[in-house]
Amino acid sequence: MAQQQQPARTVCVTGGGGFIASWIIKLLLQRGYTVRATVRDPGDKKKNGFLASFESASQNLTLHKADLLDYDALSSAIMGCEGVFHVASPILARDEVGFLDPAIKGTLNVLRACHEAKVKRVILTSSVVTTIFDPNRPVDAIVDESYWSDIDYNRKHEQWYTLSKTLAEKAAWQFAKENELDLVTMLPALVFGPSLDSTINPSNSILYRLVTGVSLSEYNFSYGYVHVKDTAEAHILAYENPIASGRYLCVESVLYFTDLLEYLEKLFPNYTYNKRCFEEMTTSGFVPGKFSNQKVVNLGIRFTPLEQTLKETILDFKEHGFIN
Ligand SMILES: NC(=O)c1ccc[n+]([C@@H]2O[C@H](COP(=O)([O-])OP(=O)(O)OC[C@H]3O[C@@H](n4cnc5c(N)ncnc54)[C@H](OP(=O)(O)O)[C@@H]3O)[C@@H](O)[C@H]2O)c1
Repeated sequence: MAQQQQPARTVCVTGGGGFIASWIIKLLLQRGYTVRATVRDPGDKKKNGFLASFESASQNLTLHKADLLDYDALSSAIMGCEGVFHVASPILARDEVGFLDPAIKGTLNVLRACHEAKVKRVILTSSVVTTIFDPNRPVDAIVDESYWSDIDYNRKHEQWYTLSKTLAEKAAWQFAKENELDLVTMLPALVFGPSLDSTINPSNSILYRLVTGVSLSEYNFSYGYVHVKDTAEAHILAYENPIASGRYLCVESVLYFTDLLEYLEKLFPNYTYNKRCFEEMTTSGFVPGKFSNQKVVNLGIRFTPLEQTLKETILDFKEHGFIN
């Protein structure tokens, strides 16, 4: 008897043209999923055209126009999907409202659409920033998934991105609890790695600025780093593993920015680095964090070492002609 072919599993990825989302889409297509990607302008070939070049895209990928504040558009993209990866969120916005509204209302729009569509599981891309900014956190704490950034503290310091991610994730958990929605959140550190389009996204631009001698007007706090492909894979593992639940920190290594600079100089001595010492971060909420990555490792992630991540990212800059 002829074996029955399993129907392709249909999932939606929000913000499909983004750095992390496009990697998630590429890996999902490789795994045989049918993917509906939401983008703000499907007609913008310069921004989203690269998605069509992914293996199986012509049969298994469709683009759906949806702003995060447009419930109806999100709902029509999500209806009929078995799972949703909600990745889109403002990274660079002009002001508080520009960050908070699409992040929080947008997340609730996506989750409401998922609830109505009876989606089996939602993976929300949160961030490590939702865990580390708390003035009461002990300096030597090993941050795990039980930690949360302090809302008032972030508001007071006008950390709108951190606030947007923290409030969005909190709102998501509240919604999931009230509506019995299966939600899993992924909390990546600073994500580096090759871009699938031909741009330098905001997190890679930090690396770009370091290797082009631009001094970052950043404080010297330590940060966690992770490869973009590992980040995408972690999202999919969290989606596919029936026992995955709760929050997952996704961090490969932790380094002070100054140490990252030294490390880069060792790996790529031919570039000029700006050695101006970064201002030491003294505010207690921003003290260095150590992260536990045990939970995501238990999901099956084998992290790419930072050295390899940096090499691949720099090579990508070269291939795109951003640096020599
Ligand atoms: N990169 C990192 O280091 C890092 C670390 C931790 C967490 N994250 C999280 O990962 C996710 C993806 O970030 P990324 O690094 O891949 O950045 P990205 O390339 O800038 O992607 C952000 C995406 O969000 C979309 N978006 C923003 N506002 C929107 C709105 N109002 N309606 C619809 N779409 C909207 C953007 O669409 P357009 O292309 O139309 O602007 C873009 O596709 C975000 O949730 C971010 O907070 C990133």
